[in-house]
Amino acid sequence: MKLEDKIKNKTGVLAVAGLGYVGLPTAITFAKAGYRVIGIDIDENKIKSLSAGHSYVLDVPHEDIISLVNSGRFCPTSDYSTVAHADAVAICVPTPLRKSKDPDVSYIISAVDTIVRFAHKDMLIVLESTTYPGTTEELIKPRLESISYQVGKDIYLCFSPERIDPGSKEYNLQNTPKVIGGITPECTRLGALLYSTIVQKVVSVSSTKSAELVKLLENSFRSVNIALVNEMALMCERMGVDVWEILDAASTKPYGFMKFSPGPGIGGHCIPLDPMYLAWKAKVYDFYTRFIELASDTNGNMPYHVVRLIGDALNTHYKPIKGSKILCMGVAYKRDVNDTRESPSLEIMRLLQSKGADIHYNDPYVPLLNDIGVELKSVPITPENLRGFDCVVLCTDHTSYDYEFIARTAVLIVDTRNAFKGIKGNIIRLGVGKDAT
Ligand SMILES: NC(=O)c1ccc[n+]([C@@H]2O[C@H](COP(=O)([O-])OP(=O)(O)OC[C@H]3O[C@@H](n4cnc5c(N)ncnc54)[C@H](O)[C@@H]3O)[C@@H](O)[C@H]2O)c1
Repeated sequence: MKLEDKIKNKTGVLAVAGLGYVGLPTAITFAKAGYRVIGIDIDENKIKSLSAGHSYVLDVPHEDIISLVNSGRFCPTSDYSTVAHADAVAICVPTPLRKSKDPDVSYIISAVDTIVRFAHKDMLIVLESTTYPGTTEELIKPRLESISYQVGKDIYLCFSPERIDPGSKEYNLQNTPKVIGGITPECTRLGALLYSTIVQKVVSVSSTKSAELVKLLENSFRSVNIALVNEMALMCERMGVDVWEILDAASTKPYGFMKFSPGPGIGGHCIPLDPMYLAWKAKVYDFYTRFIELASDTNGNMPYHVVRLIGDALNTHYKPIKGSKILCMGVAYKRDVNDTRESPSLEIMRLLQSKGADIHYNDPYVPLLNDIGVELKSVPITPENLRGFDCVVLCTDHTSYDYEFIARTAVLIVDTRNAFKGIKGNIIRLGVGKDAT
């Protein structure tokens, strides 16, 4: 049977390489749509966990894993030779930065080199990992051609960026349009056909390079706009006004304005990293992406600013940072998720620790933390515990926090998210000048 028919009648087998925050929901969505899905990850712990019916991604319920594994629709494995049975492969491996802030595409190369060993004619390969424009054409296409396959004729290759919004109740894979671009029009057509069986709308673009750039534009847009409101927040503190009031009022404009919120910095595997992929590739063309670099710099300085605010707050109580007992509330990079990658909370904790603070944290989604050099346990939020801290810093505004109770109980609060808006207490808010409190 031809690939096209296997997609149309969902008898095709799909492999997903990389079962993290992106790959696992993707694999489960395809399996729920009726495909048989092979989930491949090099992390044996993840495979063991999934085989035992346990999900480690909050947006994927355990029940889905249990029923799909039991029915044989979803087969987690670390064995790449299973790719030989797949009709299509989606690659969802990490794309971090090196210490030098250059792209690290070694995970893509390693996954592709292994896939190529088991690739066969009439197979569709889609890269979903976020990466610089040109990756699919420059790194993957030659590897497929090295096994004497003509891309677009014998084998099909596309890039389709993942737009998953972890923790979102409103948007999921199905109701978020999926962008796709192939090496040839036939690649795009087959890729679009595959995704149209799981998402409501597929948006085809003219090339893999365009599809790669779409994702980087989206995340650079976020980074630049967050940097703009962070700059506004710092300016408002000096001017003695309340940036949150300005933002709320500006947001009433029904056109031409989109609300972004200031905060302690940016985190997660996307916004801090992806724009740097674009900045790096642009330099190859002798082009300097000044907005991107400036945004990265502005956002990267926010944890330092928060530490200054904490120092000023403690100062009003005649206390230095050194020796003060400080509680950081929320270490996940954003509300209601358990992902701490690149979280600005960690940077704030490290900076405070280096100044001699006695640092503790609470996060309902992160029971243990190993990221700041010592192993810490989430401190329960009790009246006794809260009263024992010289300062409580709200870094991530999880919805389960009882802000009225925290404001009533804590001695001193630094709020980086405006979570205590309208609540009385000894609270210093980011972006709010003294005259506006
Ligand atoms: N997390 C997000 O919100 C998000 C959103 C959109 C796009 N993305 C992009 O998606 C990609 C994956 O991100 P993620 O958050 O899912 O990362 P992740 O670290 O959660 O998951 C990646 C998985 O790939 C596995 N892996 C590494 N090398 C492998 C290999 N050679 N073969 C098979 N598995 C391998 C890892 O063990 C891990 O489980 C990145 O490019 C990221 O930028 C992430």
